[in-house]
Amino acid sequence: MSPIAPPRGTKDLLPDEAPAWRWLHETHASVAGRHGYELIDTPMFEATDLFARGVGSGTDVVEKEMYTFADRGGRSLTLRPEGTAPVLRAVLGARLEQRWRPVRVHYAMAMFRYDRPQAGRQRQFTQVGIECIGDRDPSYDAEVIEVAWRFMAQLRIDGISLQLNTLGDRDDRLRYREALSAYYTPLRDSLCDDCRRRLEVNPLRLLECTRDAQHVAGAPLLRDHLSGESRGYFADVVTHLDEAGIPYTHNQRLVRGLDYYAHTAFEFWHTSLAGAQNALGGGGRYDGLAEEIGFPATAGVGYALGVERLLIVAANQGVAPVAQPPAQLVVCTATAAGAKEARKIARHLRDRTTVIADLSARRLDKKLRDADRLGARLALLVGLDEGLVLRNLRTRAQQVVTADTVLDAVSAELLQAAQEGVP
Ligand code: HAM
Repeated sequence: MSPIAPPRGTKDLLPDEAPAWRWLHETHASVAGRHGYELIDTPMFEATDLFARGVGSGTDVVEKEMYTFADRGGRSLTLRPEGTAPVLRAVLGARLEQRWRPVRVHYAMAMFRYDRPQAGRQRQFTQVGIECIGDRDPSYDAEVIEVAWRFMAQLRIDGISLQLNTLGDRDDRLRYREALSAYYTPLRDSLCDDCRRRLEVNPLRLLECTRDAQHVAGAPLLRDHLSGESRGYFADVVTHLDEAGIPYTHNQRLVRGLDYYAHTAFEFWHTSLAGAQNALGGGGRYDGLAEEIGFPATAGVGYALGVERLLIVAANQGVAPVAQPPAQLVVCTATAAGAKEARKIARHLRDRTTVIADLSARRLDKKLRDADRLGARLALLVGLDEGLVLRNLRTRAQQVVTADTVLDAVSAELLQAAQEGVP
C-alpha cells in the first residue's frame, strides 16, 4: 500500500518552520493590538449564502474556487474562502457595534480556495487581517493601511509597494459598468471565454483579465465616472497616508477580486513574488456588505495578508527567525535505576531552561549522539558510579555535580554560552 499523500494544495507546518510562523503571527497580533484591534475568530465553515451574497456571485472565488458541500442535514455549507464576510457576520450578529464604534478586530485564520496550486498559491492558506467596522471616515481607511504597513515594517520586509485606488460608490460603479459594456460589446468576438461571461455578469471583472491585456489597456477609467463626493473621499484618504509617510501608487486598474468593495481598494505588491501571485495582501472599504448579508447598513474597512506569501518573502530576505534547538539540556539515564532521580532533576531544571528527559533503555552513547544532533548544549548523565555528570556537548568538558549544585552549574554554562553568542 502506498503512503497517503496530503491533499493537493495543502502544506504541513513542520517544526523547523514553526519559529517563523509564530514570529509572524505574534508580530501581527502585537502591531494590531497596539492600534486597539482585539482578537476574533470565526468557524471554518459557514452557510454558502454568506459568500455567494457577500463576496458576489460573479467572482472567481464564488464561481470557481469554493469548497461547498451539503451536510447530513442537507444544509449547503462552504469552507471559508475569505474572512471579511464571516467577521462582519460575527461582529454584527453579536451587536458589538452597539457598544462603541468602530469595532476593531484582528484575526489569523485558515482559508480554503480551490485554486491551481503553485508557489504562494495553495488550496488551504492562512490570512492575518484586521477589520474596522461601524463607522465611515477616511481616517479609518488610512489607519487600516497604516497597520498593515507597520506590521510589514516590523517584519523588516522591504520592497513592498502599496497599490491604491478608489472604486467609488454604487452609482459611480453603475455608470462605469455601462461605459465598460459600451467599450467591450463591439469587441465581444475577440474576447476570451471568461471575459465574454464577465461582460454579461460583472463587467468590472473584465479589468482583471491577463489574456485580453490589450483591451484592458484601452478600457475607460473609473476615474472619469466618479462623483465629487467619491473624489473628495479618496483625496482625504491620500492626505492621511501622506501624513503617515506611507508612499503609494495610484493604480487606476486595481479592482480587487471580490465584489463587496466601495471607495478605497488597495493591495500590497512585492516584486519577488512572481506574476499574478505578486499580491502579499489587499483590502478596502465594504460599506454595502452588511446589507448584502442581511444586516442593517454598516460601514467597514479592512485588509488581509497571505501568511505563506509573507513567509516566502521573509525567507528570501533572510529576516525570518530560524529554528532553535527544542531543548538546551538533555537529562540522560545511564541505567534504568536512574530514571526516578532523572525525572525529578529534569522537573527541577525546567525552572531554569528547556529540558528533555531521555529515560529510554538505549545505550548512553546513542543518547548523547542524539542530544548533540538536536542541538542541545548540555547533557546531564544520571546513574553513573561517580554521581551526576554535567557534560558540555560542544566542548565535551565534563564536571561532577550534586543535586544541590546542578542548577547553578547549568546556569553558569548557559550564561557562558549566551556571552559567547552560542544559540
Ligand atoms: P484577497 O485579495 O482575496 O482579499 O486575499 C488576500 C490575500 O490572501 C492575497 O493577497 C494573498 O496574499 C492571500 N491569498 C489569497 N488566495 C490565496 C491562495 N490561494 N494561496 C495563498 N494565499 C492566498 C481578501 O480575502 C479580503 N477578505 C481582504 C479584506 C479584508 N478586505 C477587507 N478586509
